[in-house]
Amino acid sequence: MPSKILSAATIGLESVVVEVEVDVLGAGLHNFTIVGLPDTAIKESRDRVSSALKNSGFRPPHQCGRITVNLAPADLPKLSPIYDLPVALGLLLTTKQLSFSSADKIFVGELALDGIVRSVQGVLPVTLLAQQQGIAEIYVPRANAREASVVEGVTVIPVDSLFSLAQHLTGQNIIASHPQTTLDYTLRSGAELLDMADVKGQEHAKRALEIAAGGGHNILFNGPPGSGKTLLAKVLPSILPRLTLPESLEITKIFSVAGKLPRNTALVTARPFRTPHHSASAVSLIGGGTYPRPGEISLAHRGVLFLDEFAEFPRSVLENLRQPLEDGVVTVSRAKGSSEFPAQFMLVAAMNPCPCGNATDVEKLCSCTPSQVTKYQRRVSGPILDRIDLHVDVPRIKIEKLEQEHGGESSDSIRTRIERARTFQQERFGILSAPIFTNSEMNAQHIKQFCLLDDASKTVLRTAVSQMQLSARAYHRLIKVARTIADLADTSNITSAHIAEAIHYRFKTE
Ligand SMILES: Nc1ncnc2c1ncn2[C@@H]1O[C@H](COP(=O)(O)OP(=O)(O)OP(=O)(O)O)[C@@H](O)[C@H]1O
Ligand SMILES: [Mg+2]
Repeated sequence: MPSKILSAATIGLESVVVEVEVDVLGAGLHNFTIVGLPDTAIKESRDRVSSALKNSGFRPPHQCGRITVNLAPADLPKLSPIYDLPVALGLLLTTKQLSFSSADKIFVGELALDGIVRSVQGVLPVTLLAQQQGIAEIYVPRANAREASVVEGVTVIPVDSLFSLAQHLTGQNIIASHPQTTLDYTLRSGAELLDMADVKGQEHAKRALEIAAGGGHNILFNGPPGSGKTLLAKVLPSILPRLTLPESLEITKIFSVAGKLPRNTALVTARPFRTPHHSASAVSLIGGGTYPRPGEISLAHRGVLFLDEFAEFPRSVLENLRQPLEDGVVTVSRAKGSSEFPAQFMLVAAMNPCPCGNATDVEKLCSCTPSQVTKYQRRVSGPILDRIDLHVDVPRIKIEKLEQEHGGESSDSIRTRIERARTFQQERFGILSAPIFTNSEMNAQHIKQFCLLDDASKTVLRTAVSQMQLSARAYHRLIKVARTIADLADTSNITSAHIAEAIHYRFKTE
């Protein structure tokens, strides 16, 4: 009789149940095959399982006859070494070295040669699958137990080694289940090292940053070297609103699948702030690989993607951002499968206006030729710039400002305002059948529903659109920014003053 153990395969961010069937085909030449679309890591599983079984005191496969392992359904690609544990258990069951009920249990784990169970990626989506399917127990490597323990209604058994698991399953030495992680987990806003009050002057840029954080809008800082563009971006985590629990779960799932969740971590508790270097490849930014994995834009989901030295990124790499910036999701297709990953991030970019950096400086001479300046600015395409809501000029700061003792309002006080604005947004969008979190995510339908404009606002908007020759996208984005400005001001109606401020940031500084 073949044995059957439950495990899971994760495609994109979703997991499906995989049945690991193990059969021994009598005596004859020893053979150990794994079928059912396994990748290299799983083919190598034979050697790991054989050693782990021998070193845990069991009969290894070559003493058992011809063994066939089938990972069903066979048409789903199986990627990671998480099947080591279920394969070993199936073998022990079918060769009658162990006797236990495998029903209502799901197993994931990689085996070391000595039988120790190693941590694996993507435990959270598998545990969520167990919850959906009503499977009572999940057996995971101990290092992943906290990650699994945020899911309610599933008993998490942390596994150290194949031997201790065998003892548990046969009732000789029971492993204590991992306690459920309480869901009122303290969610932080980020690495609170820098404070807005440390940034002197630049009130205009700080205000724009507050609006961007208030509604999750995209922002571009443009200015001479040393004016504080990078500093402004780095101070952003200190004013970002704390994560809500649904947001935290979404992000944790992405980090879990990408293998970026630190060991013994239950939830991502700080809003992501990703800073890929301008030498980053398109795949690392967007996601991909033979079997698609999330890229930086998905790791920045519900947080910030900061692209410093924006114009230094190859144009071909930046162009990939066009679709995800619009849709908030990215579909990565490869020969061996296609996956959709969420990518609802806030883009923060910083660049100089020209190669020498002084083109916008009124006091310093720019040493670039006009054609050099134009060429430099063309490195970032029009369609990408059109997707940026707030274009902010960051001038060189005057010495008097720099010498000031205090740089203005503290991050804590600004964040209080931002969090209140976000609460309004949650209340507003909570009634939707597919809720969104921020103003920046509104589509044309939402804008119609939630952004009623009075006559004065309409006039201001109409004049701006025709004079600045704004695109339809820019028109919608303008209204969304105005909605955020109104939310920050604690008013339910958008006024012409809010529209005017939003228009002001639409100007592309050159
Ligand atoms: N407004 C400011 N208040 C306080 N310190 C500042 C300010 N602007 C710049 N600085 C100081 O100057 C340093 C350099 O600033 P920053 O790296 O942000 O410049 P930048 O605009 O990004 O320049 P580049 O274009 O060369 O990248 C900061 O680390 C900080 O010490
Ligand atoms: Mg910089």
